[in-house]
Amino acid sequence: MLRLVECWSGAEGSAASAFAKGIELRNDLLPHDVTHQFRRRCYTSFFMLKETLRQARIVIDETLERLLPPATQYPPSIHQAMRHSVFAGGKRLRPILCMEAGQMVEGCIPPGIEELGAALEMLHTYSLIHDDLPALDNDDLRRGFPTCHKAFGEATAILAGDALQTYAYEVLAKLQCPAEARVAIIGEIAHDTGTIDGMIGGQVMDLEAEHTRPDAQTLEYIHRSKTGALLTASVVTGGMYAGADLIQIQSLRDFGQNIGLAFQIVDDVLDVTQTSEQLGKTAGKDTATEKATYPLLFGIDASLKKADDLVAKASAALDGFGDSAATLREIAHFMVERKK
Ligand code: IPE
Ligand code: IPE
Ligand code: MG
Ligand code: MG
Ligand code: MG
Repeated sequence: MLRLVECWSGAEGSAASAFAKGIELRNDLLPHDVTHQFRRRCYTSFFMLKETLRQARIVIDETLERLLPPATQYPPSIHQAMRHSVFAGGKRLRPILCMEAGQMVEGCIPPGIEELGAALEMLHTYSLIHDDLPALDNDDLRRGFPTCHKAFGEATAILAGDALQTYAYEVLAKLQCPAEARVAIIGEIAHDTGTIDGMIGGQVMDLEAEHTRPDAQTLEYIHRSKTGALLTASVVTGGMYAGADLIQIQSLRDFGQNIGLAFQIVDDVLDVTQTSEQLGKTAGKDTATEKATYPLLFGIDASLKKADDLVAKASAALDGFGDSAATLREIAHFMVERKK
């Protein structure tokens, strides 16, 4: 389980060294759990997942390259800013989840689903650009590079975020799936990035909860909304694209909601335990700005335990899919084991 941390870093090496490094890296975080986790997984799945993730990232990067206007497109400053943030890197987790959900439902990767994945990544990148603005989290570093407003100025960064959002919907409107599914996908994503239990609602409450010690219910609302909702949209719309029925969509929604919350809990933990170099974004920021986080309310160990429990629930939500859910389950584990 721990060895999966290698996947995001792109580091190569033998299975043994991957194991060893993973254990060394997370030993400080989960001393009580290491042996248990070591036994739980096998070498084969590690390399298979690593390869799946690598290939998916290539497909997504190529698709984003093809779909986004070139940097020279008039007016160039906005297109350069959009590309700066999109191609700074990133794990491409939302498109990967989307494509894997589609593959699980259809039995193969549905043709054209990578364009849905690319639109989700554009929306995610827009959310990061705005999250980093001085009026929100005021961050200088993102994906290992200066944030959009640091590189291009605040006005252009605001517009680059807006532009990635509107452009994502242009891509969604042209998806190569039946019109009924296309409309359902657009409605799902608009809702999940909106104000009612969606990303913007979560961001508003995240800002309003700074310097307070919110109750557990408010904290859960913030995390489910600001982060969980778009991750949920990623798997749900991947299923919709592949023609999932209502029961399958509900299973994907349960899965997404559980991994979505787990993912943000781990984001909070990494903010405390990792360095800025490892994260590619400013570490220790949540403490400095007195953000509402799981480690603040529950401590690191209890937060990681909660994330593990949520992954177990997410995994169970996919029981109806049988063995074809194996990769999504691996990705879910990976989402809480990551170190960046
Ligand atoms: C960071 O998301 C912001 C959150 C929602 C916690 P990711 O950790 O997926 O960021 P990238 O895309 O890999 O940069
Ligand atoms: C960001 O949450 C959530 C969204 C961008 C919607 P954070 O503020 O915790 O994300 P990081 O830590 O800056 O990546
Ligand atoms: Mg934030
Ligand atoms: Mg932030
Ligand atoms: Mg964070």
